[in-house]
Amino acid sequence: MALPKHVYLNGEFLPPESARISVFDRGFVFGDGVYEVIPVYGGRPFRLSHHLLRLEASLAAIRLPNPMAPDEWAEIFHALAEEYGPVDQSIYLEVTRGVAPRDHAFPSGTAATVFAYAQPLTYPPPEQIQAGVHAITVPDIRWSRCDIKAIALLANVLMRQTAVENGCAEAILIRDDRVTEGAASNIFIVSGGVLSTPPKGPFILPGITRDLVIELAHRNNIACAEKEIHRPELFAADEVWMTSSTKEILPIVRIDNHDVGGGQPGPVYTHLQALYQDYKRAFRKQEVD
Ligand code: PDD
Repeated sequence: MALPKHVYLNGEFLPPESARISVFDRGFVFGDGVYEVIPVYGGRPFRLSHHLLRLEASLAAIRLPNPMAPDEWAEIFHALAEEYGPVDQSIYLEVTRGVAPRDHAFPSGTAATVFAYAQPLTYPPPEQIQAGVHAITVPDIRWSRCDIKAIALLANVLMRQTAVENGCAEAILIRDDRVTEGAASNIFIVSGGVLSTPPKGPFILPGITRDLVIELAHRNNIACAEKEIHRPELFAADEVWMTSSTKEILPIVRIDNHDVGGGQPGPVYTHLQALYQDYKRAFRKQEVD
């Protein structure tokens, strides 16, 4: 993927090769920062208020004041998205605790580093959307503040890599014999016609796509519960899906070399995928936020 012509860094829009951060940036040295990934459809950031609220929560959790007001963020995103016009995009934004001599404790009086860019959205290939993907289960080796969208993603990187090395698209994370989420997604199952996903808490990221799927299920009378999913329930499920802002909803049809349901995407997935695409169409027409 080609680099964007411009990125945003600390108040300026610059060509990527001119955008420099210090080697003493705490994001680089400690992974001391948070991020967001926001899809942009028809030039408008999707579920923007939800993403900005989650950013606010991540920043509050690491005790870093938000360097921008919501309309300032929106202005930056708008300027970045202009480069690709109407093409579907994703915005990546990152806020770190800034530049300071290396010391674990917070520095005082240091300005946050703010970085953002847009890039065309790479959708999963149509055959994955239609036929589904394979996943592997792995122990969830992360810490106990997975609700913070922290840039320190080493555990997620290692777990996703294990999936890739096993010919799988995603790793499903298991903690205390329960499903938490995917390495970079939330997980849903369907059993006996009921959709369920693990409840919010310190061990999962509160996914914006997850919330929209739940909202669409409720609005369309599809039974949906936020409840713990024990490992055996995952393998006994009729359907398993993963959700994220960039992958939207993808069916998982094989886990640890066992077929899910009939080894094909199920009817509840097909229904929810249609509702999700309808919602996106309405968003493009500015009928919904
Ligand atoms: N990741 N859980 C984890 C650990 C994630 O990294 C993500 C998304 C999600 C889904 O959240 P949302 O629906 O808000 O995208 C759940 C992004 C896309 C990433 O890191 O690129």
